[in-house]
Amino acid sequence: MSHDAIAVIDFGGQYAHLIATKVRRNRVLAEIRQPEDPLEMFRGYKGIILSGSPSLASFGEDSDWNKAVLDLDVPVLGFCFGHQEIAKHYGGTVINGKQEWGHADLHLLREHPLFEGLDRVEQVWMSHFDSVTSVGPDFEELGYTLLDPEGRPHRFAAIGSDKLRRYGFQFHPEVDDTLHGDEMIANFVLGICGCRPTWTMDSYVAEQVARIREQVGDGSVFLLASGGVDSTVAARLFAEALGPDRLQLLHVDNGLMRKDESTQVVQMFRDLGLGDNFHFIDAGETFLRALEGKIEPEAKRRAIGDTFIEVFESEARRLGIADHLLGQGTIYPDTIETGGTKRADTIKTHHNRVPVIEEMIAAGRVIEPLADLYKVEVRELGEMLGIPRELIWRHPFPGPGLGVRLLCSDGRTESGDQLAEIAPAADAIADTFGLRAVPLPIRSVGVKADLRSYEHPVLLSGDADYGTLKKTAGLIFKSVGGLNRALWNLAPGHPETFRLLPAEMTRDRLDLLRECDHLVMAGLRRHGLYDRIWQCPTVLAPLEIDGRGRELCIIRPVLSERAMTATAAELPQELLDDLRRDILDLPDISGLMYDLTSKPPGTIEWE
Ligand code: XMP
Repeated sequence: MSHDAIAVIDFGGQYAHLIATKVRRNRVLAEIRQPEDPLEMFRGYKGIILSGSPSLASFGEDSDWNKAVLDLDVPVLGFCFGHQEIAKHYGGTVINGKQEWGHADLHLLREHPLFEGLDRVEQVWMSHFDSVTSVGPDFEELGYTLLDPEGRPHRFAAIGSDKLRRYGFQFHPEVDDTLHGDEMIANFVLGICGCRPTWTMDSYVAEQVARIREQVGDGSVFLLASGGVDSTVAARLFAEALGPDRLQLLHVDNGLMRKDESTQVVQMFRDLGLGDNFHFIDAGETFLRALEGKIEPEAKRRAIGDTFIEVFESEARRLGIADHLLGQGTIYPDTIETGGTKRADTIKTHHNRVPVIEEMIAAGRVIEPLADLYKVEVRELGEMLGIPRELIWRHPFPGPGLGVRLLCSDGRTESGDQLAEIAPAADAIADTFGLRAVPLPIRSVGVKADLRSYEHPVLLSGDADYGTLKKTAGLIFKSVGGLNRALWNLAPGHPETFRLLPAEMTRDRLDLLRECDHLVMAGLRRHGLYDRIWQCPTVLAPLEIDGRGRELCIIRPVLSERAMTATAAELPQELLDDLRRDILDLPDISGLMYDLTSKPPGTIEWE
C-alpha cells in the first residue's frame, strides 16, 4: 500500500460510508471492510474504525464479527455500536437503555489527544438505543453527555485505553451535527494512528475513466439523465471515458417532474454539448397508470422504479441500441438507505435500487461510477469536469420526483385510537409554551437510531419564535411516542378537526403540487435564499381541515451537508407571509404548514 490507510468496518449503520468520507477529507485513504472479512484483509492499515449499526450490542446481535482484528497492534476507535462492542470485549457492560437522539453536550473529564484543540464541552449528535454502563480494567471514562442541561448524565459517552490504544464514542462524530467531529476524526487518524496525509481526490477522474473503459469494453452506455446533478456529472464522466458517440442519453418525463423542468433539461444537455445522442420521451401517462391504486410509500417507489426500466428497455429497442450497459448516477446515500449493504435497515427503496435493477446489477448490466460518493464529492467532481456552477448547485431532486412528495391515502386512519391517546400529552407540553399541539392522521417516513419509522407528525399552532417551536418539538419527541415530525401551522388560528381523504396520484393533484412547489422555489430565489438552503421539498397530503379544502401543503426547507442528517432551516417572516398569501389562496388547499423536523427523526422527503 503506497498511502497510509484506515479500515472502516461497516456494521450497517447509516453513516458507515460517511466515516470513510470524513477520513478521506484528511487526505488519508479509507476503505470499507465487512465485519466477517478475514484477518488478512485488515493487515497494512494504520488504524481501524468500527461503525454504528441497527443491531443491538446489548442483545448480542451481530456480535460474531471477526474479533481477531482487535489483536492487531493498531489503534481502534468505535462509534455507537462499535463503541459498545469495544467496551464489551474488554470487560465492560452494555445495557438496552432508553432511546436517545439529537444534540447533546459532551463533557470531557480530562485533556486527551483525541480531543486536542477542542473545548471541555462539545456539541455532539446521539442516535442510539444501547448504552455502555461500565468499562473494563484498562479503560477510563473520557467524557459523559447531557441531552439537556437539567437531565441526567449519560456516562461513558467517550471511553479509552491509552495502553491498548482502543477508544469508543457513544455519539457520532462523523455527522455534521457533531460540531467538531471532523477534528476528533482527524485527531484519531493523523494523531493517534500517525497517518501521513498523502491521498487526494485528484486521481479520482483518472481512476474512474480507466474503470469505465474496462467495464464497458467495446460496448456503449445508455444513461437515464434526469437533469439532476448526479446523472449530469455521470454523463460528463462517461463522455470523458468513452467519447460522446458511445454514450446515449435518455431523459424520461415521468409526469412527476417540477413545473417546466423537462424542457429545461433538454436545453441544458444541448448547452453541455451532449445533445447529439440525447433522447426524450414523455411517459407521464405510463407512470400514472403504474401508480394507480398505489398508496404506501414503498409501493409507489417500486412502481416508479419498475416503470423507469420498462420505459428504458422499450426505448432502447425502439432506438436500436443493443449491447449497452445501463448507466446510473447513483450516489452512496441511495444505496445505504435502500438497505444496500448487508446490514443496513431499509429506510426507503431509492428509485435506482428497485429489485429489477438489483437483478441487472447482479448480471453485470449496470454501471455506476459515482456509487461511492456523497453529493459534496459529486459536486466537486462536476466542477473539475467543467460543469457550470448553477447546474452543480441545483437543489437535489429525488429520482421518483413529486411521487415522493404527493402523499396518497385510502382515507382510513388505522391509528385513530393511538392518536387520541398521545394527543393530551403532546398538548400539555405545548401548553407550557403558550402553543397547542395535536397529532395529525397522516404518516411519513423517518429514521430513528438507524431504523425506518412510519409515523405521525405533531402540529404546533400559535405564535412563537423559531427557537421556542424547535424546543417544544424536541420535548414532545422526547416524551411522546409514535411521532416522527413536528409541523408549525402557518394558516390563521388553531386548526381543530382533520379528515384524511382518499386520494391517489393523479395529474390534477400533481399539477397543484407543481404550482405550490413553483411558488416556494420562486420565493426562495426572490429572497436570495436558494443557495443557502440544501433543499426545500413541498409536500401535499390529502387532509381536510376544519371542514375545508382537500390538500394540506407542507414546506420542508432543510440545511444539510450530505443529506444523511439535516436540520430544518429558518425562513424569514416576509417569505412566510408571501407563501401564506400565494398558497392559501389556491383552490383545494386546506392549510399551510412548516416542517420543523431534523433528520433524524424525520427524513428529508415525506414519501
Ligand atoms: P431522505 O428523504 O432519505 O433523502 O432524507 C436524502 C436525499 O436523497 C434524496 N432522495 C433521492 N434521490 N432517488 C434519488 O436520486 C431517490 O429515490 C431518492 N429518495 C430521496 C432526497 O431528495 C434527499 O436529497
